[in-house]
Amino acid sequence: TERTFSIIKPDATKRNLTGKINAVIEDAGLRIVAQKRIRMSDAQAKKFYEVHSERPFYGELVEFMTSGPVVVQVLEGDNAVARYREVMGATNPEQAAPGTIRKLYANNVGENSVHGSDSLDNAKLEIAQFFTDAEIVG
Ligand code: GTP
Ligand code: MG
Repeated sequence: TERTFSIIKPDATKRNLTGKINAVIEDAGLRIVAQKRIRMSDAQAKKFYEVHSERPFYGELVEFMTSGPVVVQVLEGDNAVARYREVMGATNPEQAAPGTIRKLYANNVGENSVHGSDSLDNAKLEIAQFFTDAEIVG
């Protein structure tokens, strides 16, 4: 079993989709073992997306992620990192497979409703940015 880090992004919280997205996550066999609704600070968003700091959309991305509430989560299950990437679907919803969260709910490539860690190492780093060990109850 494995843990991954998830964010329900501002476009989704704004449209009241937290429960629907959580249902897709749970139906896929992942357990939500930690969850909180927060407003990301500018510093938190900049740090979280530091790997994309040279990309042309970095400023827009940071602005979007701080534009409203997000729900940060820890998901647990077999191959949780890869499994959640499958469940989210492609970054661009136009390329996302049917039934995936992004196909169902994303607005566009920027406002794409969810984040999921892309490796186990990054999952550990990302979880530690938002949760203490005591907040994760498996
Ligand atoms: P995350 O799980 O959010 O990391 O998505 P990802 O791994 O599928 O995509 P990637 O890490 O390549 O990009 C991170 C985030 O940047 C995406 O989820 C989008 O929100 C945003 N992003 C990526 N490409 C574009 C783009 O071309 N334009 C804009 N505005 N945002 C983008
Ligand atoms: Mg990514």
